[in-house]
Amino acid sequence: MKIAITGKGGVGKTTFSAMLARLYADEGYRVLSVDADPDANLALALGFPKELMDTIVPISEMKELVAERTNVPIGGFGKMFKMNPKVDDIPERYCKEYNGVRLLTMGTVDTGGSGCVCPEHVLLKRLTSHLILQNKDVVIMDMEAGIEHLARGTAQGVDAFIVVVEPGERSIQTYRKVKKLGEDIGVKRVLVVGNKIRNKEDENFIINNVQDGECLGFIYYNEEVINSDRSNLSPYDNCTKTVEEIKYIKQKLQGGI
Ligand SMILES: Nc1ncnc2c1ncn2[C@@H]1O[C@H](COP(=O)(O)OP(=O)(O)OP(=O)(O)O)[C@@H](O)[C@H]1O
Ligand SMILES: [Mg+2]
Repeated sequence: MKIAITGKGGVGKTTFSAMLARLYADEGYRVLSVDADPDANLALALGFPKELMDTIVPISEMKELVAERTNVPIGGFGKMFKMNPKVDDIPERYCKEYNGVRLLTMGTVDTGGSGCVCPEHVLLKRLTSHLILQNKDVVIMDMEAGIEHLARGTAQGVDAFIVVVEPGERSIQTYRKVKKLGEDIGVKRVLVVGNKIRNKEDENFIINNVQDGECLGFIYYNEEVINSDRSNLSPYDNCTKTVEEIKYIKQKLQGGI
């Protein structure tokens, strides 16, 4: 299963991505967590220790790898620009593993407009499509906020977009845009998780604003989640109630709701 976690900024995409990945890993699945946000912080939410986190180099910053695979010398322009660089060994070689979750950090590419064909961009695009179309693991991609990057096809081919929403009009707006875009680019399912819920009214607000059958469930506002963030701990290890809520969401996801 390949899913991309999307939504407005700050709604809880990274928190949810990390906890879902940990759940799958604890059940014995091979899980690949992909940090596709240029402002990468998934390792923190997964509970990576600092020493391991310090060893992470985003793929787009691996100059030699990019040069070797795309045939473009570092800082130069290639005459024989490879549009289909070899990528199949990259996940295994460059992921970092902790608590049974393998993490691949993609990094950022200065796109310089939509028509960018810089080598980093070509490599990341090819790598992402390999992860989605060929990799055998459960792949959970923590996306950048908003929809601009989705429009560039950064998650094309996934089985589902999961849009994390808060009980508020602004994140519902983002859900509507993601849904429209998902339809345009042929993503089979767009599902919703309500986060930072405080009461039944919040639940109803979300149910009333998303399409029937799309809502996978709710995660309640939980101070323990913020406390773990503050203490640099994985919410998965410290927020029992939230883990239970996400277990339920995962079941619905697997049952195709
Ligand atoms: N259920 C919750 N209860 C309380 N706080 C939460 C909950 N979910 C997430 N948070 C907090 O909200 C903040 C934003 O969460 P997170 O980083 O997961 O969002 P994000 O959507 O990935 O943000 P960004 O768009 O910046 O990538 C964090 O401080 C996190 O601890
Ligand atoms: Mg995030």
